[in-house]
Amino acid sequence: MRNIAILCSGGDVSGMNPALKHFVEYALQKGLTPFFIYDGYEGLIDNNIKKVSYCDVAGIITRGGTKIGSARSKRFTQKQYRIIAKQNLDALGIEMLVVLGGDGSFRGLDIFYKETSIKFCGIPATIDNDINGTDYSLGVDTALNIIKTSIDAIRDTASSFKRAFVIETMGRNCGYLALVSHLTSGSELCLIPEREYDLKSYEESFKEQIKNGRRYFIAIVSEGIKQDSSEIAEWFEERIGMESRVSILGHVQRGGNPTIYDRLMAYKFVTHAVNGLLQGKDESVICYTKSGFEFKSIEEVTSKTKELDTELLSYLDNQ
Ligand code: F6P
Repeated sequence: MRNIAILCSGGDVSGMNPALKHFVEYALQKGLTPFFIYDGYEGLIDNNIKKVSYCDVAGIITRGGTKIGSARSKRFTQKQYRIIAKQNLDALGIEMLVVLGGDGSFRGLDIFYKETSIKFCGIPATIDNDINGTDYSLGVDTALNIIKTSIDAIRDTASSFKRAFVIETMGRNCGYLALVSHLTSGSELCLIPEREYDLKSYEESFKEQIKNGRRYFIAIVSEGIKQDSSEIAEWFEERIGMESRVSILGHVQRGGNPTIYDRLMAYKFVTHAVNGLLQGKDESVICYTKSGFEFKSIEEVTSKTKELDTELLSYLDNQ
């Protein structure tokens, strides 16, 4: 029997549990022995590794987060700990790894492969959708749906009270979540790190809209912009003349029942990752683009910052 393990690294996303479930079932179907590594690379170093079977993944498909935990491991960046990690894998006869995570997690993995020849396949998983080389990362759809539900709810109270709401989304330096949420929720203002902005340029039009009967504004801002959300709210009060509130959505965006799309993508990503490893793809990331699934090198995925989809940006630019 060949042994294969899976771990989650970096920020958790909804979709990791469906991926774990399919990983176990598909590995067994392929005649492999599946293992879980708990708490990311930390568990690899601490030998927190367990052989698993169907009963370990029963009922988890509906749950956000990850049953096996995740972590951002500082120790894995040090060679002395990677040596221990390799010894732990050798002791259990594990020769293949599937890693759900972001580009930082994949970088560590590449060094590990070069030192140890442990084969791996990365699966992009981050709500930020900021991994170069893939149009989609696991968890994005669920996060967008959580944001949608929140904005829809905030709109109810904003319109009742004649207020401006500044709604802050996650995404680090990537404005994807904010931009897609803006385009799909009909908000009046969207500020993202990828675009310079000048609030002054909105003043005349916003005041005119109030004169014409507008009762509320919704502004969606990405956490990576140069100003705090509270400063945007102050601008609404002082320059537009409307009472305002800030709503930082925060970690609710990382949880919740995984959407159908994330469950399906989890299924597909895992199937491709396991197949790739069995077919001799020893150090790759399974990416999803307009042309479908393809394996890309760590170099390609980690060497550049992902640029936000130009089509989506053009919609914002033309507003
Ligand atoms: O990378 C995912 C993410 O949720 C970012 O959007 C956010 O900036 C960050 O992680 C939050 O990290 P933490 O969970 O450590 O507070």
